[in-house]
Parts: sequence; structure tokens; C-alpha cells
Amino acid sequence: MISLKTPSEIAIMRENGRILALTLRAICEEVTLGKSTASLDHLAEALIRKAGAKPAFKGYQGYPATICASINDEVVHGIPSERLLKAGDILSIDIGLFREGLYMDMATTVPIGDIDEAADHLLRVTEESLWQGIKRVTIGNRLSDISHAIGSYVKSKGLHVVREYVGHGIGRKLHEDPQIPNYGLPGQGPRLQPGMVFAIEPMVKTDPEPTRVLDDNWTVVTATGGLAAHFEHTVALTERGIDILTIGGE
Ligand code: MF3
Ligand code: CO
Repeated sequence: MISLKTPSEIAIMRENGRILALTLRAICEEVTLGKSTASLDHLAEALIRKAGAKPAFKGYQGYPATICASINDEVVHGIPSERLLKAGDILSIDIGLFREGLYMDMATTVPIGDIDEAADHLLRVTEESLWQGIKRVTIGNRLSDISHAIGSYVKSKGLHVVREYVGHGIGRKLHEDPQIPNYGLPGQGPRLQPGMVFAIEPMVKTDPEPTRVLDDNWTVVTATGGLAAHFEHTVALTERGIDILTIGGE
């Protein structure tokens, strides 16, 4: 069952999205070689709490941090650590918050110093695939139109979407129905209608094999060491059309 949000809930989520986007932007400005991902995590938690919100991931199924920091072949759910970022790395930062009873979720992948051509291609294709998905969020479309747009775009660029993890509804819970895979046929699933709020999050990699989880029981890595990237926005569908909530403004 997809829960529909009222306009006043969407107004709160819009403010949550603004806070989250500004927070992630501030973190990204601190990303440089020689930094640890733990230091980025501490900054993230401080900024979220200062804004009167709580980290959404910390404590979620025992997850120990505010952000997920996934480097190079780490796909998602990398735990922040004292590992130092180095030139040529790519870093996926996933961040969520909870405020006034409602969750918000977003992610981006950033280059550290100069990155090679393959990494640059991966970042550009993954981000563009998110926008291809977002473009399909319109009243009357089917849910899988989003999935298909992402998956077919990524495939056309010679890269591979992660199939084991998916986008999701979001609101009173971090993960609500429906699941939003980043692949599949168009024209299936429920019709999109005002009040729906989705976290759309393509995870893309250079190798085709399924991912695996490290012994820490969190960090998801590619099977053969290929690079992975992750971009995510939370979007609301309203009577006036799509509203991308995780955009900072100005
Ligand atoms: N952004 C991730 C998601 O949408 C959340 C990270 S999982 C957590 O599912 F356990 F770290 F919270
Ligand atoms: Co998410």
C-alpha cells in the first residue's frame, strides 16, 4: 500500500529536504584528499542536530553512523572510518534525517581530486540516470516507467544497475512501499498520483555481476572490484506536478 501524503506533510518534507540538501552540500565542500570519512560523518551529525533534526540512519537496524560513505568499489552502506580519501577516489555519500515525524533521504557521489575517464563516465551516467527517472514522475504514469527509464539509460551507456537494492517510498518511515527498482519493463505497477513521495536512487557499477556484503555486515561491494556510484533524490508528486524535495534552493 502506497501511503499518500497530505499537502501539510509535503510542506514539512520540503523543509526537511531543504535542510538535508544544505547539509550534504556543506559536507561535500569539506571533501578533499587526506580527510577521513569519519570526520565527514561527525560534521553531518552536528549539522543535522543543529537544524533541529535527527540522523535517520543512525540506529536503523543497528547502523552506527549518520552517513554512509562508500569509496570506489563500495556501492552503498559503507561505514565511515579513519580511512583517508586519496586523489582519484570516488566517494558516495548517503544521508538521511528525521524531523517533525517525517524522513528525508538523499545521496550523491563526488570525485576526490582528478579521477580517470572511466570513473568520470560512471558519475555522469549515474547522475543522468537519476534525472531520467525523475522526468517520468508525472501524474498518470506507471511506477515502472521510472524504473525502466533509469535502467535502459544506464544499459545504453554500457554500465550496469545494481539489482539487489532499490528506491522506495518514504514518509513516516524511512522505507515505505513501493519498492522502486532501477530496471524493468515500462507500463507496470500503480499509476502515479498526487501525494506520492519517492526516494529514487540509482546505484550503478562498471561490472555486471551481483554485489556482495563485507564481513562488517553492512558494506556492499562490487563482485570484481569495479567502481560504483550512487545518486538519490526524494521527490513528491503534487497537484501541480513534481516537486524535488532534496534541492537546497538558491
Ligand atoms: N539511503 C539508504 C536507503 O535508502 C539508507 C541507508 S541504510 C541505513 O535505503 F541502514 F544505513 F540506514
Ligand atoms: Co534511500
